[in-house]
Amino acid sequence: MTDNSRYLLRGEVLSFNDDPGEGDTPAPDSLSHYPDGALLIENGRISAVGHHEQLTSRAPADAKHIDYRGKLLMPGFIDPHVHYAQLDIMASYGRQLLDWLNEYTFPEECRFTQRAHADAVAEAFLDQLIEAGTTTAQVFCTSHPNSVDAFFSASQRRGMRMLAGKVLMDRHAPEALLDPPGGGIDDSERLIADWHGRDRLSYSLTPRFAPTSSREQLDATGGVLRNAPDLYLQTHLSENPGEIAWVAELFPDCQDYLAVYEHFNLVGPRSTFAHGIHLDQDMRHRLAERGSNIAFCPSSNLFLGSGLFDRLACREAGLNISLASDIGAGTELSGLGSLKAAYQVGQLLGQPLTAWQGFYQLTLGNARALHLQDAIGHFAPGSEADLVVLDPAATPLLKRRTARSGSLVERLFALMMLGDERAVHATWINGRTYQG
Ligand code: GUN
Ligand code: ZN
Repeated sequence: MTDNSRYLLRGEVLSFNDDPGEGDTPAPDSLSHYPDGALLIENGRISAVGHHEQLTSRAPADAKHIDYRGKLLMPGFIDPHVHYAQLDIMASYGRQLLDWLNEYTFPEECRFTQRAHADAVAEAFLDQLIEAGTTTAQVFCTSHPNSVDAFFSASQRRGMRMLAGKVLMDRHAPEALLDPPGGGIDDSERLIADWHGRDRLSYSLTPRFAPTSSREQLDATGGVLRNAPDLYLQTHLSENPGEIAWVAELFPDCQDYLAVYEHFNLVGPRSTFAHGIHLDQDMRHRLAERGSNIAFCPSSNLFLGSGLFDRLACREAGLNISLASDIGAGTELSGLGSLKAAYQVGQLLGQPLTAWQGFYQLTLGNARALHLQDAIGHFAPGSEADLVVLDPAATPLLKRRTARSGSLVERLFALMMLGDERAVHATWINGRTYQG
């Protein structure tokens, strides 16, 4: 569902071309910044980006001009690890991972046996995502195939680029969530046939984590992946000490947690491992060699008390990082909120996150981690017109702070520390605008 109208959006334009590095000054040529810039959108794609003065003279006569002066136009944010079915249990008090799963998460996910419930939550989740300026996500549904149909249908209606999958689990959870022993693969294959590659949708195989899948199920999942290397895979890894001890008990023949996934051929370039907090450098190198990515989920890690993710050790190992919300354990659906939490975690490790690196990560960095950089994450001509219009003066506090900010990087940093959904003036998806 692409809008065939043409638009010329005027505003301050910022887009990354490459990783700006960790320093205070971004690496040369790593970003494009037009203080009085413009984007030309045609047929749902960015057809030109540059200075407003130059673009306005070249714009087709029928282009609708939209004035976003005073606002910041950036590629839509990307959330590479999030559970849509957990929207309604965000902020459930006082537990660590395994108790939180049993007390809140599994009972909540049981509700998704009902298609109507899944439809309603999928719509509410996408509304929230768009309000937060997030235009693409990699999403855990539940173990019910219905929940995936509901999510993809809602995403398709909105023309969104989304990755999602049916949770695979056949043990250690309530009966209503379990696949038959070793099963769930037929359902996954049906969903792949129906949704993978359709419009802007991709399928991600989704074994929940090692403790809730039998060896047979993990083995069958690896088999599907081997035969279809363009599929994605998402799971959890080394989030919590209790979880890690449990995995060691369940898989005594594997040298560590990662070795379980390696054994079943689940570690590849399109695999996202959420958390990866408690890893040694050997595990980081093994992940890096396979081109996988770790989704850093800072607000979730703080909420569940899971630990502090060592971002720089991962970078030193050459490991791809993505930055994610992981709601319901995450407390922020907003990418700006994830940046704030990432900065705070970084401060506790003596590795503060610069605004350059943070906004790169939310956009092009996350797109690259998901191999989507040819489609989204930046404003190169030809890319899909998903973007967020940020208002650096959205709240009285932001307005005061922005008035004191001389440079772009100061304004970006104020947005990442003080901003949330209120700072999202509008979100564009596939060349169409929501809000604003
Ligand atoms: N590990 C296994 N399942 C989950 C989940 O739903 N959320 C988080 N944060 N970790 C998990
Ligand atoms: Zn998760």
